[in-house]
Amino acid sequence: MEKQEIRTFGRRHGKKLSPRQQRLIENLLPRLAPQHDATILEIGFGAGEHLRMLAKSMPSAVIIGAEPFMNGVASLLSAITDDADNILPEYKNIRVHPDDVRILLKNSDLKFSQIWILHPDPWPKARHEKRRLLQASFLELLSQHLAKDGKIIIGTDHWEYYEWIREKAQKADLLISTPDIEIIETRYQAKNKAGTAAPKYMILSNK
Ligand SMILES: C[S@@+](CC[C@H](N)C(=O)[O-])C[C@H]1O[C@@H](n2cnc3c(N)ncnc32)[C@H](O)[C@@H]1O
Repeated sequence: MEKQEIRTFGRRHGKKLSPRQQRLIENLLPRLAPQHDATILEIGFGAGEHLRMLAKSMPSAVIIGAEPFMNGVASLLSAITDDADNILPEYKNIRVHPDDVRILLKNSDLKFSQIWILHPDPWPKARHEKRRLLQASFLELLSQHLAKDGKIIIGTDHWEYYEWIREKAQKADLLISTPDIEIIETRYQAKNKAGTAAPKYMILSNK
């Protein structure tokens, strides 16, 4: 990633990992490196609730989750393994990029049929706006990684950010639809920090 790229996430490390989580990061994570057969991407998967749901519901798809917060990565690894640290059969199609997704995208020609972004950090203070991930330039980068008829699915409970993203999508010349979607509640969604009635969703695609 170029040096001047602005950081869009908060901490990379939170509370100390348990011995099991540490072991999974050291031994399992290197075996889950993204591969070329991946067709679905979830950006900023948090603790991985939605990523696991995707993996279970689409067993023949290979799904990459990108997340720089290592405690989130550790939570996912704990949830997809049994007591002997083996991956549960329903999660064998998960790959993990434990870092900024822009590094993955700028260094690969992967094409995705679905790119999910649920509750991107809203950075609500005006002076932090530049830290928002979904800038027009980022949406343009995502659009280059869409397969034919591929879709970017975005959800946020921060309605001001939602409208802001819509403007950036127009600037990036993407097709915008705003369907009613119901998905499982993620950890961040449950916190509902924005205090709004419900998350809003939009789907972006190439014209
Ligand atoms: C508000 S949290 C939402 C997490 C999860 N999607 C949920 O709904 O519970 C946003 C997540 O996006 C991640 N994130 C921010 N910038 C990112 C980037 N450039 N690449 C990948 N993930 C990023 C953060 O680390 C954080 O875990």
